[in-house]
Order: sequence, then structure tokens, then C-alpha cells
Amino acid sequence: MIRRIAVNTGGGDAPGLNAVIRAVAISGMSRGWEVLGIRYGYRGLIEDDPAGVVSLDRNSVRGIHHLGGTILGSTNRGDPFRYPVMKDGQLVPTDVSSKVIRRLDELGVDALVAIGGDGSIKLSAKLLERGLRRVIAVPKTIDNDLSGTDQTFGFDTAVATATDAIDKLHTTAQAHERVMVVEVMGRHAGWIALYSGIAGGADVVLIPELPFDIERVCDKIRWREAMNRRFAIVVVAEGATQVGGAAVFKEGAGQFKEHGQLGGIAERIAHEIQLRTGKETRSIVLGHLQRGGSPVMTDRVLSLRLGCAATRFIADTNTSGLVAVRGNTIQLVPMSEGTDRIRTVPLDSDVLLTGRQLGVCFGDEQPESFEPSLTPPPPSLPPYRVFKGGPA
Ligand code: F6P
Repeated sequence: MIRRIAVNTGGGDAPGLNAVIRAVAISGMSRGWEVLGIRYGYRGLIEDDPAGVVSLDRNSVRGIHHLGGTILGSTNRGDPFRYPVMKDGQLVPTDVSSKVIRRLDELGVDALVAIGGDGSIKLSAKLLERGLRRVIAVPKTIDNDLSGTDQTFGFDTAVATATDAIDKLHTTAQAHERVMVVEVMGRHAGWIALYSGIAGGADVVLIPELPFDIERVCDKIRWREAMNRRFAIVVVAEGATQVGGAAVFKEGAGQFKEHGQLGGIAERIAHEIQLRTGKETRSIVLGHLQRGGSPVMTDRVLSLRLGCAATRFIADTNTSGLVAVRGNTIQLVPMSEGTDRIRTVPLDSDVLLTGRQLGVCFGDEQPESFEPSLTPPPPSLPPYRVFKGGPA
């Protein structure tokens, strides 16, 4: 018999978190349950803060489904198994997981809905092993790289933001006859780069799944130049690597943070392109813009579906697990399915193939590419012109 549930949001935020919270709260309340919100991942249970756990009522979740961020707050430095605790004047990683479990017990929480990415799902599994009653994990990440689920909310919004930025960069690139290198998020998966690159009409898309050869990228730019297309857009995933190279990090993983911070590949590529082709090249990192703003329609609907499914599984089953999208259905699957590997872009992806057929350079051997050779256009062809309002 369920009387009270709790919900928290952990890891990097993603557009749609508030919609999940609203769906969990309303669908839980309508079953007669009390719904608690835990602030900042597990921090609200660990720190002795009276505002760390809040009661969610209809008013507190009214009108939030379209808002970015999370009303509960989030953190990716709140792992209860290595929580920063001040000892002798310095922060020491400390296992406070027993406190988390005890507090949830004291609060009479029958099930926790933990909304988060791979790190949060792993934490849910570990807390269950240590004795936490029940957890329903709801997968979240703009990176769309979680195994076990076909889709994560936040991805579509991040792609829309990146596509919009690429559209804007097109006009300035064209005006100045420059190469623009745009770095997008996605960690070690190329979903955001691939989808925004294709949607934005990029000339080059570099993803971690296909290590790139910078000379192939430069060849594409030289070919465009020879065709009188004197600008180019290069979209690069933050985790992309050169053949035989490694991903570029701004900061390594830390005592309190599982993952290092990727970043800087666009600048390196821009430097190489300018050096090798002589084309004026600029780089831009879209960064956390991609995590902000209102969720697009598909993310809102997915978030609301996942939130309602979470309470449905709490009511209809006795188990813990991960709420996963499988085709058109939503299923409860073992937690391990969300953490055993990352979901990368398959090399036979239809979107990848579409890019190749459209002549997008992926910096690889281009086995399927329909890209014309580097030969300049025959003299019989009219010189390249930009028509009014038309794309180049
Ligand atoms: O996982 C989501 C994500 O936005 C990644 O795309 C990015 O690499 C990372 O989080 C950035 O994390 P932080 O918020 O710690 O800078």
C-alpha cells in the first residue's frame, strides 16, 4: 500500500525535468498519495536543511511543464557514496548513503522517483543494494546516450537550439566567406551533432563514433572553395576525436565528479583548418545554451508520459526499475539496462546515411558518400551565385 512518494532530479539539467515533476506529482496525488520533492538530488536529505524536502501540492507544480531547469534544483556533485564533507578544514569524499536511506525511511517514503542520467541511475541501483525500499528511475539527458531506452527527453530541445544557432551562423559565415566550427554537447555520443548538423545543413559533421582525418575536412572546404562556395559550416561533437587521437577535456574527473568536462575541440579544429586551407576560420562553443529554454513539444509530451508511467509502475508493480521508451511503448526495465553501456550512433544509422547522400563530410573514409570529386566545376557551368533568399 503506497502512501507517500518522493521525487528528485540529479545530474545536469535537461529541458523537460519540470514536466516530469508535474506529471509525477499530479498523477501521484490523484491516486491519493502524498508527494515530496527532495532538493538538489540527495542533498536535501543529507544536509540538515529544513527546506531540503518540500511537500509538492497542486500549486507548487502549476504552470511548470513548459519551463526549463528544475524547480527542485539539481547537482552533479551530490553522490551520497562520495559526498563532500568538511573534515579538518578540507572537503573529504564520504559515504553518507546510510543517512539517505534512513531519512527516506523516517519520512515514510514508499517509493522514490529518481530523475537523472547514467550517474543517477547507477546511484539508484547502489542505494537499492544498500537497502533503499524502492526506486523508479526516469532517464534524462540531452545527450540521448542512455542504453535501455530509445529516447531521452531534453534531446529534441537541445537539437532545436543547436539547429537554430547553426542557421544563424550560416548567414555570418556566408557574409564573411569564413569557416565556422560549431562545438555541440553530447559527451561521447554524436546524436546532437548529427541531428543538428543534418537539420542545419552543415558541410562537415564530426562525431565520436567516426574518428576524423583533418585533411578530409580540409579537402571538403577546398572543394567548396573550388566550387565558388566560399564559406563552410563544421559541426563538431565535444567528444569527437581525430584518428588515433583522444577526446579533448577542459578539466578531468574529480574526487566528487564522475566525469571530466569535455571542451575545446572546435578551437583546435578551427586552428588546423585555417593553417591548412588559408581560410579565415572561427570557432564557437554552444555549451550550456543547449540545456536551457523551454522544452519543445516532443520533449514535453515525452516528459509527461514518463512521469505518469513512473507512478503507474509504482501502483501496478512491486519492483524497482528504469522507465524506458521502447518503440511506442513505455516499459519498466531492470536498472542495469540503463547503465551497462552508452548508446552511441550506430554506423548504419539512416540519419548518417542521409548525411552521406547529401554530401556531408564526416571526416572519415566516406564509404557511402555521394560527394563529387575535388575537381572544380567544368567551365560550361555558370559561376556560383547566391539567389535571393535561397540557400547557398
Ligand atoms: O550530459 C549532459 C551534458 O550537458 C553533456 O552534454 C556535457 O558534456 C556535460 O553535461 C556538461 O556538464 P556540466 O554541467 O558539468 O558542465
